[in-house]
Amino acid sequence: MKTQMLKINAESLLLASKLINNGEIVAFPTETVYGLGANVFCEDAIAKIYVAKGRPNDNPLIVHISDKSMLRLVARDISQLAQKIFDNFMPSSLTVVLNKLPTVPDSVTANLPTVAVRLPRSQEARQFISACNVPICAPSANTSTRPSPTSAQTVYDDMQGKIPLILWGEDCQVGIESTVLSLVDQPTILRPGIVTRSEIERLLGVPVAVSTLATGAVHSPGVKYLHYAPLCPTIMFETTSTEIVKIHYQQHLKDNPVILCARQYLQDFLGFNCLDLGGSEEEIAHNYFSSVRLAEKDYGYIIQMFCGDSELAYSIKNRMTKSVNGNIITK
Ligand code: TXA
Ligand code: MG
Repeated sequence: MKTQMLKINAESLLLASKLINNGEIVAFPTETVYGLGANVFCEDAIAKIYVAKGRPNDNPLIVHISDKSMLRLVARDISQLAQKIFDNFMPSSLTVVLNKLPTVPDSVTANLPTVAVRLPRSQEARQFISACNVPICAPSANTSTRPSPTSAQTVYDDMQGKIPLILWGEDCQVGIESTVLSLVDQPTILRPGIVTRSEIERLLGVPVAVSTLATGAVHSPGVKYLHYAPLCPTIMFETTSTEIVKIHYQQHLKDNPVILCARQYLQDFLGFNCLDLGGSEEEIAHNYFSSVRLAEKDYGYIIQMFCGDSELAYSIKNRMTKSVNGNIITK
């Protein structure tokens, strides 16, 4: 299959909507990462998503909507808390898990009785969904296990020959995936993101729990799989000590190593292969996945250095920790 990559405009949106309404899948930009979308009510198209990504079919998809009224097409029992979020906080980089309507196919929700719904902040994403005139279920548009795509080009790298169309929009401003918040029982964050627990608590006026793999039960099926794996061996140092990182680098010289670190450390690594993750945590979130994809092209061993206590740092660490699959040194 030939994969077209077309700048988002009236013409490409028309083509995208035709494809979606004919049971095809289309990649599209959002402010978090690129998504790979299908008509939520079309079982054939949903199956194509799992095939194109090589995604395990017990990992459910997020349903993307372009306006609040679409919520009623997929979710039921919309609680006051959920209503508050949709009234006061959407569009946002926040996904909300609610009870699903029976019309949402089980293949979207991996047989769960719930559905994850997201009204993206990205105008381009909303234009696409609204042109299709149907809720769009979409995972991130990367091959399963690989870093999430934050540009049309990275989607192309993973999806060429597998999907008919990539809508080429802005590079993703946020750079890590949405916060996933379950409102089915007690409000619980299932995946941390740029929208933080304290922001949600302030809005809802009730405590919000955070569930991670470390706490035991897997509420969000996706969190148990290998994620974001670079093509070469990768280690993470959760430290502010550039000395420890330098020693490790020297030990791996033969592997063609590179250090990914915050801008403030660059001056300590003069003469070392280094990629600048950014000068703030927002920038680091924005650059992280694209930097990993750059690093793996040119180098043979990736050393990620990151440390921080803020809520955003927690979300960044969540992605970094997964990408090294437990290979972490904390000093
Ligand atoms: O920012 C994002 O959320 C991006 C863009 C494209 O919108 N999408 C994304 O999708 O990251 P994906 O498929 O890579 O991750 C979806 C996450 C998974 O961890 C999945 O398990 C969880 O959402 N999820 C989906 N439906 C769920 C449900 N009904 N209950 C609990 N978790 C759910
Ligand atoms: Mg993903």
